[in-house]
Amino acid sequence: MSTKPIRVLVLTCSTRPGALGPAVSRWLTETIAPRAAELGAELVPVAIDDLNLPFLDEEEPGGHRHEHTRRWSAIVDAADGIIAITPEYNYGMPATLKNALDYLTREWTWKPIGFVSYGHTSAGTRSVQHAKQVVTTLRLVPLGATVAIRIGDGLRPDPARDEAGIGLLDELVRLAHALRPMRERSATAPGPLPGSYVRPLTSDDASEVAVLQRCCWVDEALANDSLAIPALHESLEDVRDWLSTWHTTGVWRDGRLLGMVRARRTGADWHIGRLAVVPDLRGRGLGRWLLRAAEAAADPGCRRAELFTGAKSLHNIALYHSEGYQTMPPAGPDGTTTLAKPLR
Ligand SMILES: Cc1cc2nc3c(=O)[nH]c(=O)nc-3n(C[C@H](O)[C@H](O)[C@H](O)COP(=O)(O)O)c2cc1C
Repeated sequence: MSTKPIRVLVLTCSTRPGALGPAVSRWLTETIAPRAAELGAELVPVAIDDLNLPFLDEEEPGGHRHEHTRRWSAIVDAADGIIAITPEYNYGMPATLKNALDYLTREWTWKPIGFVSYGHTSAGTRSVQHAKQVVTTLRLVPLGATVAIRIGDGLRPDPARDEAGIGLLDELVRLAHALRPMRERSATAPGPLPGSYVRPLTSDDASEVAVLQRCCWVDEALANDSLAIPALHESLEDVRDWLSTWHTTGVWRDGRLLGMVRARRTGADWHIGRLAVVPDLRGRGLGRWLLRAAEAAADPGCRRAELFTGAKSLHNIALYHSEGYQTMPPAGPDGTTTLAKPLR
């Protein structure tokens, strides 16, 4: 799983002058900030009032013709989860929240949403029930945890309410992590295996890449009777470093990294490496698919794809030969062999 921090949009929904909403938001943000830091979550407070969203004026559902829609879209796109601070107006959610929800479609998909409600006798809970019906249509996933504030004369200090706020954040962050594969799958290209998807790997993926390398290069160590293989020894920091300088592609399924390949230009050559597939899914064409994807991504100026492998890694060498690579003599002094193929 990626270690990218979870970004939580804390959305103040009421917009009327003198509204209580901003004070509730301030309380929540101050209360949960220390836990957010512990969980590696970033809180992004936004007030609907500051968005200048008119009543929905996009012609098409999910359209982005207007600047105000694009701004709102970018804010929601960047979020991994949402906490809505909502009052109850006439037994329902405020029109401002419904309007802000209606503006967007795919931006909401597979993100958890928690509610902090407030009101008189029912503490805003009918507003939340109303909102939950609507948000599930957008594939937002409402939390079970909730904070419901019965307003009297303002917001008196209340340790039980503070605890409920922290509990809400805990659940939101867990669900945001669990739903990340769902979000990635809807936002990325499909991969070669059913249910798989493809995306570039970044330094945030270093932990998964390190695990994949160690499990895959054990076979290489056995085949070549050598432990002098960088992929077996690299630290998390080493992996983070090279991920930031190579074009690396990963195939994922349900949050698991199934395979990867990296490539970059060296002179006129397109250097391909670290082709890896998890042991239980070998023999299904994933390695071949990744190799072709790496070649297809070659810099236009590159005339040759080049890679190297252990001189006794016969299985790898057979794959490369079948894809048009030729062994370049002589074998390297470190027991590696270089293979190359003309591009285009
Ligand atoms: C238009 C309107 C409708 C309201 N309807 C309800 C309601 O159905 N239930 C409730 O408990 N309070 C209701 N209230 C009282 C609100 O809970 C209270 O005014 C609260 O402060 C509103 O949130 P805000 O100050 O952030 O706008 C209503 C208030 C307004 C302005």
